[in-house]
Amino acid sequence: MKKSIVQAKVYKVQQLNATVRSMEVIAPELAAEGVPGQFVNVRAVKGNTTLLRRPLGIADVCVPRGSIILIYRVIGEGTKVLADLKPGDYLDIVGPLGRGFELESAKPLIVGGGLGLAPLLMLAKFGFGNGRADLVIGGRCAEEITCWEGLFRGNVQQTFITSDDGSVGEKGTVMAALEKLLQKDYDCVYTCGPVPMMRAVAAACEKAGKKCQVSLEKYMACGLGACLSCACENAEGKRVKVCQDGPVFWSWEVKEW
Ligand code: FES
Repeated sequence: MKKSIVQAKVYKVQQLNATVRSMEVIAPELAAEGVPGQFVNVRAVKGNTTLLRRPLGIADVCVPRGSIILIYRVIGEGTKVLADLKPGDYLDIVGPLGRGFELESAKPLIVGGGLGLAPLLMLAKFGFGNGRADLVIGGRCAEEITCWEGLFRGNVQQTFITSDDGSVGEKGTVMAALEKLLQKDYDCVYTCGPVPMMRAVAAACEKAGKKCQVSLEKYMACGLGACLSCACENAEGKRVKVCQDGPVFWSWEVKEW
């Protein structure tokens, strides 16, 4: 699969909530080639500080501008370098990388939590155009969830919200909404988020006889299939590389993740 190494100019940065930012960068090759579920490996240099490469799912694409949108959480020194970038600065990007979602579903349900919602946004918008999918958003509280609800608006049909503290939507994890939804006629569930959430979603889908695709997040040193830092075990007990064989897998394909 073709991948590019580009010096992408920062076009816009936006604060989405207390810790989450979005960054739009001009990268026509990536905007043209990226598909939902793929990621890019980014490195920022600002002053004397260099950010180690880190994988970020492609959250959105603006085709007319030839740009991609990346969403990330500012935690620690590494992402602070990213957060300090301003329009006009440059970001070194390798991508698009990995295997994206399979889009064969006639009645898709998207289930996301935390930053896992970023690649799911591109899935909803470009994978299932015309807002064909329904969405479950899970998070800790209203402050964390509100921005995501806004980003998905117009790109999905129905949105179901759950929050740990009950400040918005149904109180509890995504499972509070999912158990009822799995009785409906969705034919495939697409999930990305914290590992315990994805495991619970995959197990519930299996029990309900629904197909499920999971987008895994692993530490990735190279992002290119060369170092095995992202390896996990597949159903046959063989090692697969999340950066190259994934990050999206059918839930039955992977065992230890
Ligand atoms: Fe190096 Fe996947 S990150 S093999």
